[in-house]
Amino acid sequence: MEGRKAKIAVLVSGGGTNLQALIDAEKSGVLRSGRLALVISNKADAYALVRAKNAGIETVVVKKTDRATFESRITEELESRSIDLIVLAGFMVILSKEFTDRYPERILNVHPSLIPSFCGEGFYGLKVHEAALNRGVKVTGATVHFVNEIADGGKIVMQKAVEVKEGDTPEILQRRVMEEAEWKILPASCEIVCKKIKENIK
Ligand code: GAR
Repeated sequence: MEGRKAKIAVLVSGGGTNLQALIDAEKSGVLRSGRLALVISNKADAYALVRAKNAGIETVVVKKTDRATFESRITEELESRSIDLIVLAGFMVILSKEFTDRYPERILNVHPSLIPSFCGEGFYGLKVHEAALNRGVKVTGATVHFVNEIADGGKIVMQKAVEVKEGDTPEILQRRVMEEAEWKILPASCEIVCKKIKENIK
């Protein structure tokens, strides 16, 4: 017999356009094996929280204190709701090995480059696109990968290439990478992983 839908928690820090892509994907049926059950932000003023509330998804703010307290508060929120999959969508905090070891192949992250280019500590948000433009690459893209203790180092689930164009600024390139890659491969990857989880839920 088919199991219930996988319960997803999305961790955010900012604008939440990737969260919005997941909300839209659930509505349209692209994401059908998982259910967005919780959004956790480390920033109280993240616009992602407004997007979650508008979609009727429960929200929690966990402010960053010391690492151990911060991570154990997040773990409590996840465990108390029996979350199956954690999605980092613009979550600007690196999680420790202690945390990632609890959830092997149960944490996804979207990164705005073709890993292994322009990734690891210090490469986040616009900085990634600045680095790509400075290096003069002609193709960049986005990657969805499982999260382990190495920043941007876990197994790759999906990648999509995006053209760099003459005259691109970091902002223009960021927008193109989001539109053409991130907002597509994040929901698609979530569906693949949730489908596998669902098949194993009794
Ligand atoms: C996205 O481009 C995401 O890939 C990136 O931050 C942006 C968040 O936008 N994440 C990282 O750089 C993580 N290393 P959003 O809040 O609108 O989804």
